[in-house]
Amino acid sequence: LVVDASEASGRPISETMFGIFIEEFNNAGAGGLWAELVSNRGFEAGGPNVPSNIDPWSIIGNESSLIVSTDRSSCFDRNKVALRMEVLCDSQGANSCPDDGVGIYNPGFWGMNIEKGKTYSVVLYVRSSGSINVSVSLTGSDGLQKLAAANIIASGSEVSNWKKFKVMLEAQGTNPNSRLQLTTTRKGFIWFDQVSVMPLDTYKGHGFRKDLVQMLEDLKPQFMRFPGGCFVEGAWLRNAFRWKETIGPWEERPGHFGDVWMYWTDDGLGYFEFLQLAEDLGTLPIWVFNNGISHNDEVDTASVLPFVQEALDGLEFARGNPNSTWGSLRAAMGHPEPFDLRYVGIGNEDCGKKNYRGNYLKFYTAIKRAYPDIKIISNCDGSSQKLDHPADLFDFHFYTDDAKIMSSMAHQFDHTSRSGPKAFVSEYAVTKGSLLAALGEAGFLIGLEKNSDVVEMASYAPLFSNDRRANFAAIVFNSSHLYGTPSYWMQSLFSESSGATIFNATLKTNSSTDQVEQLLASAISWKNSENENSYLRIKIVNLGTNIVNLKIVVDGLEPNSINLSESTKTVLTSTNVMDENSLNEPKKVIPNRSLLEKAGKDGEDV
Ligand code: AHR
Repeated sequence: LVVDASEASGRPISETMFGIFIEEFNNAGAGGLWAELVSNRGFEAGGPNVPSNIDPWSIIGNESSLIVSTDRSSCFDRNKVALRMEVLCDSQGANSCPDDGVGIYNPGFWGMNIEKGKTYSVVLYVRSSGSINVSVSLTGSDGLQKLAAANIIASGSEVSNWKKFKVMLEAQGTNPNSRLQLTTTRKGFIWFDQVSVMPLDTYKGHGFRKDLVQMLEDLKPQFMRFPGGCFVEGAWLRNAFRWKETIGPWEERPGHFGDVWMYWTDDGLGYFEFLQLAEDLGTLPIWVFNNGISHNDEVDTASVLPFVQEALDGLEFARGNPNSTWGSLRAAMGHPEPFDLRYVGIGNEDCGKKNYRGNYLKFYTAIKRAYPDIKIISNCDGSSQKLDHPADLFDFHFYTDDAKIMSSMAHQFDHTSRSGPKAFVSEYAVTKGSLLAALGEAGFLIGLEKNSDVVEMASYAPLFSNDRRANFAAIVFNSSHLYGTPSYWMQSLFSESSGATIFNATLKTNSSTDQVEQLLASAISWKNSENENSYLRIKIVNLGTNIVNLKIVVDGLEPNSINLSESTKTVLTSTNVMDENSLNEPKKVIPNRSLLEKAGKDGEDV
């Protein structure tokens, strides 16, 4: 491998080359990144009509002690469904309640992770026909292990109308499979709504699960695309992500059923929170919004203006003056300063659809008029032919189950027009969790680095998956643990590439060309954060089955400019290319860093 590290060979890689894409998919947000422990906190999962769907809430008691139903008596106008409990048993007498009472419990998203010594803020809204004495407790999955408890007690007059209660519970024990219980031994009618359990200890105090965000921070993402994907489109427009329904006080958010990924979300992780997360990660948000097109229905271009206005309002919410109509809502949520929103994606994977081009142009014109600096991303692929409409970037997605095919995509942008919009590879993956998948993806990314004059951004998808969702992802988690798949660790080897300089790196052979054909390589250099030392990183991907011995020659450097004794090599490999990580074996395939065993001086073999 010959690397020409001379100034003449160096070309800049985009500052925003590698980032992340977060989609509400596989419970990435609800039950994942967003630290809320209660699932279906407003009992709204069946929609606004009653009877609604209270799943995963369950009943503690039987027909002779308790009747549970839903009605539309909530104090929240945008989510009227509340849970109604008729307690038939009493604290004493013939039909006395069990000692622990009757009521309801919520197991969260396949178990709540409750940790000893940590504090949990429990908020709930209650109304009753008389005085109440409700035990609010965090317990093990069988209800027997008591981890923390408090009683909320109020007179009938205090709770004849809805009243908010807040209790802080400090856990006395640890259980990753816990639940929240609301129980009573007092006869009468009682209503609950908007029940929340949030750990106090969240990333920057903004409600995100720390261990999951740490994995993102470690990737040093330069941008964050959100909130989808198909999640933005919806199978039907009525179920698409609509940002206005996801802002403001959490209690007032209606939540919605994501009908592409087929699960309910309370939208605790809403538009504001995504923007906040991007800011907290020090990365650029890229907002993808619905363009009047879902998987199954479309709004005609002639009628799309309300959608255009919704997008403009969303931009005002993110960037507007705190006194503006929508900017003032952002300020009221605690963020008077504008968010640094510079990119938007008009729709997702909609290019071939009947109204895409027409709708797109309406959005494009209106946004450029109001926000000329905002970069607009088209869904249409401009990698092999020029777009027939204006755009700053074009979106490119590629999934395959074949690592070799993914790696061959390294050449996808070799012939892309250098005068048109730049490419945003916002979704790519080999749809497996194996080392081989990661190798194929690494080969592809090497191709993107080499084409960084036309590829401006790239992000893997999907980023997260709850372990209960059978899917591949970069980061897999349950309530308390997580692991990076080989694809995650592969990305970490590219985290210095954004803003780096790429050099010509040429693989040469005298004998077996087969061996070289299975290799891909790139070389980059970058400076550390203090702008003091510069580093050279050579990445080599071997997708073949043979071990290849390589002589690496680096030309074009000043004599003694490389400190070979401190040079390291990082290897991502395993005994079998099909190896995967898992919750049981989270570190089976992870990068291994060591000093270079054999380092030559200038002119010697390395
Ligand atoms: O990453 C999962 C899905 O794949 C995304 O939602 C969509 O854009 C793509 O089809």
